[in-house]
Amino acid sequence: MLVKIILGLLALFFVCLLFIRVLAKLYPFACPFKARGILENRFRRHFFGAAKTIEWVGVGKNMKVLELGSGTGFLTVEAVRRVGSSGRLYCVDIQPDMVVETREKVLNHNLGNVDLVVANALTLPFKDNSFDLAFLIMVLGEIPKSDVALKELNRVIVPGGVLSVSEFIFDPHYSLRSTVKTKAKHAGFAIVKESGKFFAYALNFRKIK
Ligand SMILES: C[S@@+](CC[C@H](N)C(=O)[O-])C[C@H]1O[C@@H](n2cnc3c(N)ncnc32)[C@H](O)[C@@H]1O
Repeated sequence: MLVKIILGLLALFFVCLLFIRVLAKLYPFACPFKARGILENRFRRHFFGAAKTIEWVGVGKNMKVLELGSGTGFLTVEAVRRVGSSGRLYCVDIQPDMVVETREKVLNHNLGNVDLVVANALTLPFKDNSFDLAFLIMVLGEIPKSDVALKELNRVIVPGGVLSVSEFIFDPHYSLRSTVKTKAKHAGFAIVKESGKFFAYALNFRKIK
């Protein structure tokens, strides 16, 4: 009986997810601020936590890093720690409320080497060749013109720098690996590393042109 209830709930969950996914295709929307609790749920913390994800992304000491679509800052604290005091993290999100939430985390952890910016991925307010690494976690699928955003990322990443894209199956905007690879290739990136499985993965690319 219990097994049937669990299976039923799982099926319901996936039907809802599918429904939101179709809706998101028809009427693209960014993860609503009111739903921000989902971004920090227990399941994610356990299986797809910040330390593991940032490890996949490859954030390292002294790097100048761009976190695009930083949301509530779930990954920000870990990323800032990894770049160290000589590195710097720039967090960008299109929703001011999300940036405010991240700012609170940054202040609570007394972190200095981070800049928080409200901006659209399609027109990033940075000079050419500014970042050693740029990463997007559950963001690419939310951007209606993701090809334009990838070109923009190519512009702000240094030659030979890294672009990292991660996706999580429970996100209604989840993109398949093959889709991300094709889009990144068109934007001038070559794949260098793959981490994770179907449910949660990270693809790291190098800027080649
Ligand atoms: C699903 S949330 C993921 C947040 C965070 N990366 C995480 O993993 O917890 C996606 C975030 O991308 C942001 N976003 C969506 N479209 C964007 C755009 N065009 N430019 C900048 N940020 C965008 C949303 O506002 C939202 O905060």
